[in-house]
Amino acid sequence: MPRLFNRNFIVGVTGSIAAYKAAELTRSLIRDGANVRVIMTEGAREFITPLTMQALSGNEVHIDLLDTQAEAAMGHIELARWADVVVVAPASADTIARLVQGRADDLLGACVLATKAPLFVAPAMNQEMWAKKATQDNIQTLSERGATILGPDAGSQACGDIGAGRLLEPDHIVQAIADTLTTGALAGRHIVITAGPTREPICPVRYISNRSSGKMGYALAEACLNAGARTTLISGPVNCEPPVGVELIPVETTRDMFDASLSAAATADIFIGAAAVVDFRPESVSKDKIKRGGASSMDLKLIANPDIIATIASGHPRPQVVVGFAAETHNIVAYARAKLQEKALDFIFANDVSDQAIGFDSELNGGLLISRERETPMDVTSKLVLAEAIVAELSQSLDAL
Ligand code: C5P
Repeated sequence: MPRLFNRNFIVGVTGSIAAYKAAELTRSLIRDGANVRVIMTEGAREFITPLTMQALSGNEVHIDLLDTQAEAAMGHIELARWADVVVVAPASADTIARLVQGRADDLLGACVLATKAPLFVAPAMNQEMWAKKATQDNIQTLSERGATILGPDAGSQACGDIGAGRLLEPDHIVQAIADTLTTGALAGRHIVITAGPTREPICPVRYISNRSSGKMGYALAEACLNAGARTTLISGPVNCEPPVGVELIPVETTRDMFDASLSAAATADIFIGAAAVVDFRPESVSKDKIKRGGASSMDLKLIANPDIIATIASGHPRPQVVVGFAAETHNIVAYARAKLQEKALDFIFANDVSDQAIGFDSELNGGLLISRERETPMDVTSKLVLAEAIVAELSQSLDAL
């Protein structure tokens, strides 16, 4: 798996003689599995053409903040949300000063302000400009605000000077970013999560489903991403925003979820079944809308769907850790323990869905994380905080194996 697989990068290129090295940087990022969109400032375009960057990134280059056509295709807010990482390389003294001021009168400045993605800045300028207190203060400010400063290197410069101010080599920039992004407890691991309900059609307009909101599964995916994992989220129809960086596989029926889960689980270290899977489906699906007519009742024959998690947990090879969810209304621990055994799971998270505060669609959840050896109570809290706690336990158990 390439280090930056499926990570979305904005590469901001600014007006520096080192702008040509942004081409090599883009190639390296793509080789490492990243998706790259390039923003070029006006100055950058004096040194390297957008056509070069377009050909290398495979995407149209983003230039103007006020171009309605470009904004309609992918506006600055959309671009800012799309990014998992923003890297400004080369970053000129002027761009660094503008980022410190929070200027938003060009596309790069506006995107940096509008994004939640981590910011990496690789300065490149004449050694005298780099050494100036103004630049040093600006770099210090960016760093204090959370940006990672990469370089610069020292050596002979295009202007004939010798000193600090050369752009760090593109491969070193990629290495430094990959190191920063892959230091979480689940770095290098692949986690597959099912979430939400499934739907089983009866006819073209009706289906059988349940009240699962998907929030817990989506929170788990976010927690796994935050821990540095490659995260695949196989989701039934829900209204949740997929976390940035997740590999989302939307599905509808249980059999769709089954197929997607089996194929994703083949490379997974952990499989988490947080979906509320519909266990039975109509034996046959009517091609046309079923009309009531004068009928006072209707028979619907249902047949069993495959059990996704049980199939994965008893497969060979299987993910090292398989985790189920047990939403129960009574005898919670006993039912959950029985399920742990029957489905050959390593963990099961048991919760009481009869409790209104933590039931379906709630922002809160709590319960017991049960393994064969122990039970860990988890207090009611937000689903994301709970997900982080569950993921911390799972990554520990993975390390212990
Ligand atoms: O529905 P049940 O209470 O048996 O669900 C327990 C666990 O099994 C959950 O993690 C759920 O995602 C999983 N499951 C499954 N496939 C099914 C039914 C349930 O993966 N057909």
